[in-house]
Amino acid sequence: MIYPFWDVTTGYGILMATIAIIHVFISHFAIGGGLYLVVTEQMARRHNDEPLLAFLQKLTKFFVLVTIVAGVLTGVGIWFIIGLLNPLATEALIHNYVWGWATEWTFFIGEIAAALIYYYGWNKMAAQAHLIIGWIYFIFAWLSLVIINGILTFMLTPGKWLTTGNFWDGFFNPTYWPGVIMRTGVCIMLAGLYALLVASRQATGDFKARIVRYSVTWGLFGLALTTVTQRWYLSTILTTLTTKVLPGPILALRSAAWLAIVIGGLLILAWVLARRLSIIIVGLLMVSGLVWFGSFESFRESVRKPYVITGYIYGNGVEVAKTEKYKKEGYLAQITYRTGDDGADLFRHACRSCHTLEGYRPLKPAFNGTDSKFIASIIRGAHLLNANMPPFFGTPAEADQIAAYIYQRIDQRPLDQIYPAADLGRQTFALRCAKCHKPGTASDKSKSFAGQSTSDLSTMLDNLPELAEGMPAYTGTAAERNALVQYLQLLGKAAK
Ligand code: HEC
Ligand code: HEC
Repeated sequence: MIYPFWDVTTGYGILMATIAIIHVFISHFAIGGGLYLVVTEQMARRHNDEPLLAFLQKLTKFFVLVTIVAGVLTGVGIWFIIGLLNPLATEALIHNYVWGWATEWTFFIGEIAAALIYYYGWNKMAAQAHLIIGWIYFIFAWLSLVIINGILTFMLTPGKWLTTGNFWDGFFNPTYWPGVIMRTGVCIMLAGLYALLVASRQATGDFKARIVRYSVTWGLFGLALTTVTQRWYLSTILTTLTTKVLPGPILALRSAAWLAIVIGGLLILAWVLARRLSIIIVGLLMVSGLVWFGSFESFRESVRKPYVITGYIYGNGVEVAKTEKYKKEGYLAQITYRTGDDGADLFRHACRSCHTLEGYRPLKPAFNGTDSKFIASIIRGAHLLNANMPPFFGTPAEADQIAAYIYQRIDQRPLDQIYPAADLGRQTFALRCAKCHKPGTASDKSKSFAGQSTSDLSTMLDNLPELAEGMPAYTGTAAERNALVQYLQLLGKAAK
């Protein structure tokens, strides 16, 4: 099942990230908000606290609108996009988890029904019955997390499932438990943030101070629980995954850690300014919460590269079990719907799920000024780049076809016509060498350039493919070669 290809110019990554991050931000609130409402209602009823009950009723309206309308729309949106992005992985998720999804959707229907009854029941139902409905809502919502967490963590760390194929092995995989607790912490924190949003619109005064401080406690407690379990979750991921962790995911993780500090600080500020908490601070809190959670989710997604289901399906839909077949028959033989333009079909199948030419993770800038021979070597050596990319499993002729497709679309002037002479060496190195030998990483070769003469280095450039398997032959112009050699000498000097 590979659908005809729908080309999204922005790139699937961006489309997916936007919808998914909004969805998780809402759906975690749906769970935490349920708990907040029912726990707080119980407290308010015990003390006959009318103002608090009125506040909760207001919060319920906001809650039902946000979770049901926006949550459902974005949830369906995710299915729509993953079906386009990676039909095979979507199919695998559906097939392996039919009963998981069925259970999830049953809980989900229960959750929506209970939310509606809870909302409309505020002034119509007996207090006890209303509370029971509230608890049913929360429990169903949390159980849907318990299920979907099994499927999400499975994609990252399928564990023993890869060999046994057993439903429970995949479900209770190595990151399952840290995932459930961490996400529960996120739910509690988001419940606090959303309640603050509604509370910020209350009139200044004692009552406002009381609910603001109460909601800040939820926020801080959830944040602490998440931060502690995130460490556990991360250590499980890092010991389970063998892929190299790149600067991108690490950056996402760092920014999540900083944002957690910002959120903690803003929550304390909200506590201090509780009586007249303004929407501005809460707005900042919501934005930092969204970016914080987004950073963490983007870490989780990017650390899984090159796979979409670790060890089972690559990000471009190539099944690990079929790699031998691919190597023998090539990619084209596996593409069901072909357009007649083989270069384009190959590019879409092998690269397009993760790259665009000019937008998201663009390939044009990575190849402008180079040539199709070089591009083809990079494609064949995809696994050698500092990038966690799937290896190229097609035939050499197919690599040439993709290269020709890309070459037709790049700036075909040689580098010495694109860049000024003063910058030519650095740019040539960046385009032709740094993809695999990024300075400062384990594959940095600067030291080996030290003390070499111009002609030594030039001879080395003539022999790159003989020096190591997968290294592209040097195919630049004479001017580029001279500038590159000088630049290599500079690198060598700096590395000594
Ligand atoms: C599963 C996703 C995935 C697929 C499929 C994929 N790539 Fe990549 N590629 C990446 C990631 C991730 C990076 C690293 C980007 C970064 O570090 O910002 C990368 C980096 C690159 C780079 C280096 C970019 C630079 O600026 O140096 C090139 C070139 C590249 N890919 C080409 C390709 C080509 C050609 C194909 C198809 C044959 C392909 N990729 C398929 C994920 C993928
Ligand atoms: C597609 C990836 C790739 C590109 C692009 C690439 N190399 Fe390499 N290079 C490798 C691999 C793989 C090795 C062998 C493993 C290692 O030593 O890290 C290697 C090894 C080397 C070595 C050590 C050889 C030895 O004798 O041990 C040097 C020097 C080197 N490369 C220089 C360059 C220069 C200069 C460029 C740019 C003109 C370049 N490489 C471009 C992949 C690449």
